[in-house]
Amino acid sequence: MSSNERIPSHVAIIMDGNGRWARKRMLNRVKGHERGTETVRAIVRASREIGIPFLTLYAFSTENWARPRTEVMALMSLLKRFLTRERAEMMENDIRLNAIGDIDRLPDDVRAALDETLRTTAGNKGLRLTLSLSYGSRAEIVSAVREIARKAAGGELDPASISEETVADHLYTREMPDPDLLIRTSGEMRISNFLLWQIAYSEIFVTDTLWPDFNREEYLDILRAYGLRERRFGKVSET
Ligand code: FPP
Repeated sequence: MSSNERIPSHVAIIMDGNGRWARKRMLNRVKGHERGTETVRAIVRASREIGIPFLTLYAFSTENWARPRTEVMALMSLLKRFLTRERAEMMENDIRLNAIGDIDRLPDDVRAALDETLRTTAGNKGLRLTLSLSYGSRAEIVSAVREIARKAAGGELDPASISEETVADHLYTREMPDPDLLIRTSGEMRISNFLLWQIAYSEIFVTDTLWPDFNREEYLDILRAYGLRERRFGKVSET
């Protein structure tokens, strides 16, 4: 990308299609997730090189717990491996890891690997990589509402003062800008309970490519197309 193209501050990605990628090849679904992990590495690397400040990946939803136990266990093990193996590369590339979701539900060993990587990378100043783990947007909003209600009931907060900013400040994403760009792979036209509040004004790109086949070139194409789109935030065009 040339230096004068508009780069999004925050890219969020719904990584979909690992299962279909595997099925097309008569492989176990887990193979699709394994290949999907390679795509994660490539997209993280590209984001860092381009200088995107925030990248948020939908790695595991609250609904995903309902998948067959073997698949859930395989995903957890891939995640643990990723968190452990990528630690050195994150340090080399100044990447700071972040996690959003109901982290307490993760198995102890995954949680330990996550905590270690969060701690090790906490001082990094480059790309902020957020993994959504056991994440559900409605649950996130419910937990924000609960916390706001608790403060109001305790007299800490005047209900009349509650604003959009108050809500945003009680979400997991409180330290991040809203996504400018949301990408979904594998053609499904759904949001799947991902960042419902935060994507109010995001530009959405859906590609038919399955996540394991998604690559740097296609990512750059989408970023270029994003740079050409005009974002009006509900206002009229200035041109
Ligand atoms: C969707 O494919 C993908 C997931 C449910 C998990 C995403 C996980 C990874 C890419 C690998 C592990 C993540 C990290 C960060 C290392 P699907 O199984 O729903 O595909 P399908 O819709 O074709 O069945």
